[in-house]
Amino acid sequence: MEQQIKEMKQTLIQAIQQAENLVALDEIRVKSLGKNGCITGLMKSIGKLSAEERKSAGQILNVFKDEIATLLDDKKQTLELQEMNERLASQTVDITLPVRPNTNIGRIHPVSQVTEEMLTIFAQMGFEVAEGPDIEDDFHNFEALNIPAAHPARQMQATFFMENTTDKVLRTQTSGVQIRTMENKKPPIKIVAPGRTYRRDYDMTHTPMFHQIEGLVIDTETNLAHLKSTLVEFMKLFFETDDVALRFRPSYFPFTEPSYEADVGCSRENGEFKIKSGAGWCELLGCGMVHPNVLRNCGLDPNIYQGFAFGCGIDRFAMLKYGIPDLRSFFDADMRWIRHYGFLPLDIPTITSGLSLNGGLKR
Ligand code: DAH
Repeated sequence: MEQQIKEMKQTLIQAIQQAENLVALDEIRVKSLGKNGCITGLMKSIGKLSAEERKSAGQILNVFKDEIATLLDDKKQTLELQEMNERLASQTVDITLPVRPNTNIGRIHPVSQVTEEMLTIFAQMGFEVAEGPDIEDDFHNFEALNIPAAHPARQMQATFFMENTTDKVLRTQTSGVQIRTMENKKPPIKIVAPGRTYRRDYDMTHTPMFHQIEGLVIDTETNLAHLKSTLVEFMKLFFETDDVALRFRPSYFPFTEPSYEADVGCSRENGEFKIKSGAGWCELLGCGMVHPNVLRNCGLDPNIYQGFAFGCGIDRFAMLKYGIPDLRSFFDADMRWIRHYGFLPLDIPTITSGLSLNGGLKR
Protein backbone atom coordinates (compact mmCIF):
# COMPACT_ATOMS: atom_id res chain seq x y z
CA MET A 1 0.00 0.00 0.00
CA GLU A 2 2.90 2.35 0.72
CA GLN A 3 4.01 2.22 -2.89
CA GLN A 4 0.45 2.91 -3.96
CA ILE A 5 0.25 5.94 -1.63
CA LYS A 6 3.58 7.23 -2.88
CA GLU A 7 2.47 7.14 -6.49
CA MET A 8 -0.93 8.60 -5.72
CA LYS A 9 0.70 11.40 -3.75
CA GLN A 10 3.01 12.34 -6.59
CA THR A 11 0.17 12.43 -9.09
CA LEU A 12 -2.07 14.45 -6.76
CA ILE A 13 0.61 16.98 -5.78
CA GLN A 14 1.40 17.56 -9.42
CA ALA A 15 -2.28 17.92 -10.31
CA ILE A 16 -2.84 20.41 -7.48
CA GLN A 17 0.17 22.46 -8.51
CA GLN A 18 -1.01 22.56 -12.09
CA ALA A 19 -4.67 23.39 -11.35
CA GLU A 20 -5.37 26.61 -13.18
CA ASN A 21 -8.63 27.63 -11.60
CA LEU A 22 -11.02 26.86 -8.76
CA VAL A 23 -13.18 24.52 -10.87
CA ALA A 24 -10.19 22.36 -11.82
CA LEU A 25 -9.03 22.32 -8.21
CA ASP A 26 -12.42 21.24 -6.97
CA GLU A 27 -12.39 18.35 -9.43
CA ILE A 28 -9.15 17.14 -7.85
CA ARG A 29 -10.72 17.42 -4.41
CA VAL A 30 -13.70 15.31 -5.47
CA LYS A 31 -11.47 12.75 -7.20
CA SER A 32 -9.25 12.35 -4.13
CA LEU A 33 -11.25 13.13 -0.99
CA GLY A 34 -14.81 12.91 -2.36
CA LYS A 35 -17.19 10.05 -1.64
CA ASN A 36 -15.79 7.98 -4.49
CA GLY A 37 -12.32 9.57 -4.38
CA CYS A 38 -9.10 7.58 -4.54
CA ILE A 39 -8.01 8.41 -0.96
CA THR A 40 -11.48 7.63 0.34
CA GLY A 41 -11.26 4.34 -1.58
CA LEU A 42 -7.97 3.48 0.14
CA MET A 43 -9.47 4.35 3.52
CA LYS A 44 -12.33 1.98 2.86
CA SER A 45 -9.98 -0.82 1.77
CA ILE A 46 -8.09 -0.97 5.09
CA GLY A 47 -11.13 -2.65 6.60
CA LYS A 48 -9.96 -5.80 4.89
CA LEU A 49 -6.53 -5.80 6.56
CA SER A 50 -5.55 -7.56 9.78
CA ALA A 51 -5.86 -5.57 13.01
CA GLU A 52 -2.10 -4.95 13.21
CA GLU A 53 -1.73 -3.86 9.58
CA ARG A 54 -4.87 -1.78 9.82
CA LYS A 55 -3.38 0.34 12.61
CA SER A 56 -0.19 1.33 10.83
CA ALA A 57 -1.91 1.71 7.43
CA GLY A 58 -4.57 3.86 9.09
CA GLN A 59 -1.94 6.20 10.53
CA ILE A 60 -0.10 6.53 7.24
CA LEU A 61 -3.33 7.14 5.37
CA ASN A 62 -4.49 9.82 7.80
CA VAL A 63 -1.25 11.74 7.45
CA PHE A 64 -1.53 11.43 3.67
CA LYS A 65 -5.13 12.60 3.68
CA ASP A 66 -4.34 15.64 5.87
CA GLU A 67 -1.41 16.53 3.70
CA ILE A 68 -3.52 16.55 0.55
CA ALA A 69 -6.34 18.45 2.29
CA THR A 70 -3.86 21.17 3.38
CA LEU A 71 -2.39 21.42 -0.10
CA LEU A 72 -5.88 21.76 -1.57
CA ASP A 73 -6.75 24.52 0.94
CA ASP A 74 -3.55 26.46 0.30
CA LYS A 75 -3.97 26.24 -3.43
CA LYS A 76 -7.61 27.32 -3.09
CA GLN A 77 -6.56 30.46 -1.25
CA THR A 78 -3.92 31.25 -3.82
CA LEU A 79 -6.37 30.78 -6.69
CA GLU A 80 -9.06 32.87 -4.96
CA LEU A 81 -6.61 35.72 -4.46
CA GLN A 82 -5.45 35.40 -8.04
CA GLU A 83 -9.02 35.46 -9.36
CA MET A 84 -9.86 38.51 -7.22
CA ASN A 85 -6.79 40.37 -8.46
CA GLU A 86 -7.69 39.54 -12.04
CA ARG A 87 -11.21 40.80 -11.47
CA LEU A 88 -9.97 44.00 -9.83
CA ALA A 89 -7.60 44.61 -12.72
CA SER A 90 -10.22 44.01 -15.40
CA GLN A 91 -13.24 45.75 -13.86
CA THR A 92 -13.20 49.54 -13.87
CA VAL A 93 -15.80 52.16 -13.12
CA ASP A 94 -15.72 55.33 -15.14
CA ILE A 95 -16.87 57.94 -12.64
CA THR A 96 -16.89 60.61 -15.33
CA LEU A 97 -19.86 58.97 -17.09
CA PRO A 98 -23.15 60.87 -16.72
CA VAL A 99 -25.58 59.80 -14.02
CA ARG A 100 -28.01 57.11 -15.15
CA PRO A 101 -31.33 58.63 -16.23
CA ASN A 102 -33.36 56.89 -13.55
CA THR A 103 -32.24 58.92 -10.57
CA ASN A 104 -35.54 58.40 -8.89
CA ILE A 105 -34.52 55.20 -7.15
CA GLY A 106 -31.56 56.24 -5.02
CA ARG A 107 -31.82 58.60 -2.09
CA ILE A 108 -29.36 60.95 -0.42
CA HIS A 109 -28.88 60.07 3.25
CA PRO A 110 -30.07 62.78 5.68
CA VAL A 111 -26.52 63.08 7.07
CA SER A 112 -25.18 63.86 3.59
CA GLN A 113 -28.05 66.23 2.91
CA VAL A 114 -27.66 68.11 6.19
CA THR A 115 -23.86 68.29 5.83
CA GLU A 116 -24.39 69.78 2.38
CA GLU A 117 -26.94 72.26 3.74
CA MET A 118 -24.60 73.32 6.54
CA LEU A 119 -21.61 73.72 4.22
CA THR A 120 -23.72 75.73 1.78
CA ILE A 121 -24.59 78.21 4.53
CA PHE A 122 -21.07 78.43 5.94
CA ALA A 123 -19.58 78.80 2.47
CA GLN A 124 -21.86 81.76 1.89
CA MET A 125 -20.60 83.25 5.16
CA GLY A 126 -17.02 82.95 3.87
CA PHE A 127 -15.90 79.82 5.73
CA GLU A 128 -13.47 77.39 4.10
CA VAL A 129 -13.89 73.63 4.53
CA ALA A 130 -11.06 71.85 6.36
CA GLU A 131 -10.51 68.16 6.98
CA GLY A 132 -8.56 65.91 9.30
CA PRO A 133 -7.97 62.15 9.65
CA ASP A 134 -10.42 59.79 11.39
CA ILE A 135 -7.49 58.07 13.10
CA GLU A 136 -6.00 60.88 15.11
CA ASP A 137 -2.99 61.10 17.39
CA ASP A 138 -3.16 61.95 21.05
CA PHE A 139 -1.62 65.38 20.48
CA HIS A 140 -4.30 66.61 18.07
CA ASN A 141 -7.29 64.91 19.71
CA PHE A 142 -6.39 65.84 23.30
CA GLU A 143 -3.03 67.32 24.23
CA ALA A 144 -2.98 70.41 22.02
CA LEU A 145 -6.62 71.06 22.89
CA ASN A 146 -5.55 71.69 26.46
CA ILE A 147 -6.51 68.18 27.64
CA PRO A 148 -3.24 66.78 29.07
CA ALA A 149 -2.89 63.10 30.02
CA ALA A 150 -4.71 62.22 33.26
CA HIS A 151 -6.88 65.34 32.94
CA PRO A 152 -10.44 64.49 34.08
CA ALA A 153 -11.80 66.00 30.85
CA ARG A 154 -10.48 62.95 28.97
CA GLN A 155 -13.26 61.01 30.65
CA MET A 156 -15.89 63.32 29.13
CA GLN A 157 -15.41 61.32 25.94
CA ALA A 158 -15.30 57.51 25.97
CA THR A 159 -12.41 56.93 23.59
CA PHE A 160 -11.71 54.06 21.18
CA PHE A 161 -7.97 53.41 21.18
CA MET A 162 -6.29 51.78 18.20
CA GLU A 163 -4.94 48.32 18.98
CA ASN A 164 -1.38 48.15 20.33
CA THR A 165 -0.90 51.91 20.60
CA THR A 166 -1.68 54.49 23.21
CA ASP A 167 -0.97 57.31 20.80
CA LYS A 168 -3.58 56.66 18.10
CA VAL A 169 -7.31 57.00 18.70
CA LEU A 170 -10.45 57.12 16.60
CA ARG A 171 -11.04 60.85 16.94
CA THR A 172 -13.63 61.62 19.60
CA GLN A 173 -14.30 65.09 18.21
CA THR A 174 -13.59 67.19 15.13
CA SER A 175 -11.85 69.75 17.36
CA GLY A 176 -8.46 68.31 16.35
CA VAL A 177 -8.94 69.91 12.93
CA GLN A 178 -8.69 73.29 14.67
CA ILE A 179 -5.15 72.37 15.69
CA ARG A 180 -4.20 71.02 12.26
CA THR A 181 -5.48 74.22 10.65
CA MET A 182 -3.68 76.58 13.01
CA GLU A 183 -0.45 74.59 12.62
CA ASN A 184 -0.55 75.05 8.86
CA LYS A 185 -2.08 78.43 8.27
CA LYS A 186 -1.57 81.93 9.63
CA PRO A 187 -4.66 83.93 10.69
CA PRO A 188 -7.07 85.20 9.57
CA ILE A 189 -8.62 81.72 9.81
CA LYS A 190 -12.27 80.95 9.11
CA ILE A 191 -12.97 77.24 8.69
CA VAL A 192 -15.59 74.59 9.23
CA ALA A 193 -14.59 70.94 9.52
CA PRO A 194 -17.26 68.28 9.06
CA GLY A 195 -16.49 64.61 9.59
CA ARG A 196 -16.92 61.32 11.37
CA THR A 197 -16.24 61.02 15.09
CA TYR A 198 -16.26 58.00 17.40
CA ARG A 199 -17.18 57.27 21.02
CA ARG A 200 -18.10 54.22 23.03
CA ASP A 201 -21.80 54.99 23.36
CA TYR A 202 -25.04 53.41 22.14
CA ASP A 203 -28.63 54.47 22.78
CA MET A 204 -31.43 56.46 21.09
CA THR A 205 -29.28 59.58 20.74
CA HIS A 206 -25.77 58.05 20.67
CA THR A 207 -24.02 55.74 18.22
CA PRO A 208 -20.36 54.62 18.26
CA MET A 209 -19.80 56.54 15.00
CA PHE A 210 -21.47 59.88 14.50
CA HIS A 211 -20.83 63.16 12.68
CA GLN A 212 -19.71 66.53 13.91
CA ILE A 213 -18.99 69.87 12.36
CA GLU A 214 -16.43 72.15 13.91
CA GLY A 215 -16.11 75.89 13.36
CA LEU A 216 -13.05 78.04 14.01
CA VAL A 217 -12.48 81.74 13.46
CA ILE A 218 -9.18 83.36 14.46
CA ASP A 219 -8.17 86.95 13.89
CA THR A 220 -6.92 89.87 15.94
CA GLU A 221 -10.29 91.20 17.06
CA THR A 222 -12.72 88.31 16.78
CA ASN A 223 -15.00 88.31 19.84
CA LEU A 224 -18.10 86.78 21.44
CA ALA A 225 -20.47 89.07 19.55
CA HIS A 226 -19.12 87.60 16.30
CA LEU A 227 -19.69 84.09 17.64
CA LYS A 228 -23.25 84.87 18.58
CA SER A 229 -24.17 86.62 15.34
CA THR A 230 -22.60 83.82 13.28
CA LEU A 231 -24.63 81.19 15.11
CA VAL A 232 -27.90 83.15 15.04
CA GLU A 233 -27.54 83.80 11.31
CA PHE A 234 -26.66 80.16 10.70
CA MET A 235 -29.66 78.86 12.66
CA LYS A 236 -32.09 81.11 10.77
CA LEU A 237 -30.84 79.86 7.43
CA PHE A 238 -30.55 76.24 8.52
CA PHE A 239 -33.95 75.93 10.16
CA GLU A 240 -35.47 78.14 7.44
CA THR A 241 -37.26 80.50 9.82
CA ASP A 242 -36.60 83.97 11.22
CA ASP A 243 -38.24 83.08 14.51
CA VAL A 244 -35.02 81.74 16.04
CA ALA A 245 -34.05 82.38 19.67
CA LEU A 246 -30.64 81.33 20.96
CA ARG A 247 -29.68 81.03 24.62
CA PHE A 248 -26.08 80.72 25.82
CA ARG A 249 -25.46 78.85 29.08
CA PRO A 250 -22.03 78.92 30.78
CA SER A 251 -20.34 75.54 30.38
CA TYR A 252 -16.93 73.91 30.40
CA PHE A 253 -14.71 72.76 27.55
CA PRO A 254 -10.94 72.55 28.08
CA PHE A 255 -10.21 74.24 24.74
CA THR A 256 -12.38 77.33 25.21
CA GLU A 257 -12.55 80.05 27.84
CA PRO A 258 -15.22 81.22 28.43
CA SER A 259 -17.25 78.20 27.24
CA TYR A 260 -20.95 77.98 26.48
CA GLU A 261 -23.61 75.57 25.46
CA ALA A 262 -26.14 77.07 23.10
CA ASP A 263 -29.83 76.15 23.15
CA VAL A 264 -32.39 76.97 20.49
CA GLY A 265 -35.98 77.94 21.26
CA CYS A 266 -38.41 75.19 20.35
CA SER A 267 -41.90 73.91 21.02
CA ARG A 268 -43.28 70.39 21.28
CA GLU A 269 -47.01 70.88 20.80
CA ASN A 270 -49.21 67.86 20.04
CA GLY A 271 -46.13 65.75 19.55
CA GLU A 272 -44.83 68.08 16.84
CA PHE A 273 -41.36 69.54 17.27
CA LYS A 274 -40.89 73.10 15.97
CA ILE A 275 -38.07 75.63 16.07
CA LYS A 276 -39.60 78.86 17.43
CA SER A 277 -39.00 81.43 20.14
CA GLY A 278 -40.90 81.76 23.40
CA ALA A 279 -41.70 78.11 24.16
CA GLY A 280 -39.05 75.68 25.49
CA TRP A 281 -35.34 75.15 24.82
CA CYS A 282 -33.41 72.44 23.08
CA GLU A 283 -29.66 71.88 23.50
CA LEU A 284 -27.76 72.47 20.27
CA LEU A 285 -23.99 72.82 20.50
CA GLY A 286 -20.84 73.73 22.43
CA CYS A 287 -18.82 76.84 21.78
CA GLY A 288 -16.59 79.53 23.27
CA MET A 289 -13.51 81.69 22.86
CA VAL A 290 -10.41 79.66 21.93
CA HIS A 291 -8.29 79.07 25.06
CA PRO A 292 -4.93 80.93 25.08
CA ASN A 293 -3.17 77.59 25.75
CA VAL A 294 -4.61 76.17 22.53
CA LEU A 295 -3.34 79.18 20.57
CA ARG A 296 0.09 78.81 22.19
CA ASN A 297 0.16 75.07 21.40
CA CYS A 298 -0.23 76.00 17.74
CA GLY A 299 2.46 78.66 17.82
CA LEU A 300 0.08 81.63 17.86
CA ASP A 301 0.61 84.52 20.28
CA PRO A 302 -2.55 84.93 22.41
CA ASN A 303 -1.61 88.59 22.96
CA ILE A 304 -2.10 89.16 19.25
CA TYR A 305 -4.68 86.59 18.18
CA GLN A 306 -8.02 85.52 19.54
CA GLY A 307 -11.06 83.78 18.17
CA PHE A 308 -14.07 81.60 18.67
CA ALA A 309 -14.87 77.95 18.06
CA PHE A 310 -17.96 75.82 18.05
CA GLY A 311 -18.76 72.15 17.55
CA CYS A 312 -22.00 70.30 17.04
CA GLY A 313 -23.50 67.00 15.96
CA ILE A 314 -24.59 66.91 12.32
CA ASP A 315 -26.83 63.90 13.00
CA ARG A 316 -28.47 65.79 15.84
CA PHE A 317 -29.24 68.70 13.52
CA ALA A 318 -30.71 66.24 11.01
CA MET A 319 -32.90 64.70 13.72
CA LEU A 320 -34.15 68.13 14.82
CA LYS A 321 -34.77 69.53 11.37
CA TYR A 322 -36.38 66.47 9.80
CA GLY A 323 -38.08 64.96 12.86
CA ILE A 324 -36.12 61.70 12.96
CA PRO A 325 -36.58 60.11 16.38
CA ASP A 326 -33.82 57.48 16.71
CA LEU A 327 -30.17 58.07 15.81
CA ARG A 328 -29.43 54.35 15.58
CA SER A 329 -31.77 54.03 12.57
CA PHE A 330 -29.41 56.34 10.60
CA PHE A 331 -26.87 53.56 10.32
CA ASP A 332 -29.11 50.49 9.86
CA ALA A 333 -28.93 50.66 6.04
CA ASP A 334 -32.66 49.90 5.91
CA MET A 335 -34.08 50.74 2.46
CA ARG A 336 -37.53 51.53 3.89
CA TRP A 337 -35.95 54.12 6.20
CA ILE A 338 -33.84 55.75 3.51
CA ARG A 339 -36.84 55.88 1.14
CA HIS A 340 -38.81 57.68 3.84
CA TYR A 341 -36.16 60.05 5.21
CA GLY A 342 -33.80 60.33 2.21
CA PHE A 343 -33.58 63.10 -0.42
CA LEU A 344 -33.63 63.12 -4.21
CA PRO A 345 -30.10 63.05 -5.61
CA LEU A 346 -30.17 65.97 -8.00
CA ASP A 347 -31.89 68.43 -5.67
CA ILE A 348 -28.77 70.08 -4.38
CA PRO A 349 -29.26 72.53 -1.52
CA THR A 350 -28.60 76.16 -2.42
CA ILE A 351 -29.33 79.34 -0.54
CA THR A 352 -31.31 80.80 -3.43
CA SER A 353 -33.41 77.81 -4.49
CA GLY A 354 -33.98 76.69 -0.92
CA LEU A 355 -31.99 74.34 1.27
CA SER A 356 -34.61 71.67 1.66
CA LEU A 357 -37.60 73.19 -0.19
CA ASN A 358 -39.41 73.54 3.11
CA GLY A 359 -38.10 70.32 4.47
CA GLY A 360 -40.05 67.67 2.69
CA LEU A 361 -40.99 68.46 -0.89
CA LYS A 362 -37.61 67.28 -2.10
CA ARG A 363 -38.08 63.78 -0.78
N1 DAH B 1 -15.64 69.02 20.87
C1 DAH B 1 -16.81 69.22 21.70
C2 DAH B 1 -17.51 67.88 21.90
O1 DAH B 1 -17.30 66.99 21.11
C3 DAH B 1 -17.74 70.21 21.08
C4 DAH B 1 -17.18 71.59 21.10
C5 DAH B 1 -17.43 72.41 22.17
C6 DAH B 1 -16.39 72.05 20.08
C7 DAH B 1 -16.94 73.69 22.22
C8 DAH B 1 -15.88 73.34 20.12
C9 DAH B 1 -16.16 74.15 21.20
O2 DAH B 1 -15.11 73.85 19.15
O3 DAH B 1 -15.65 75.41 21.21
O4 DAH B 1 -18.26 67.74 22.81
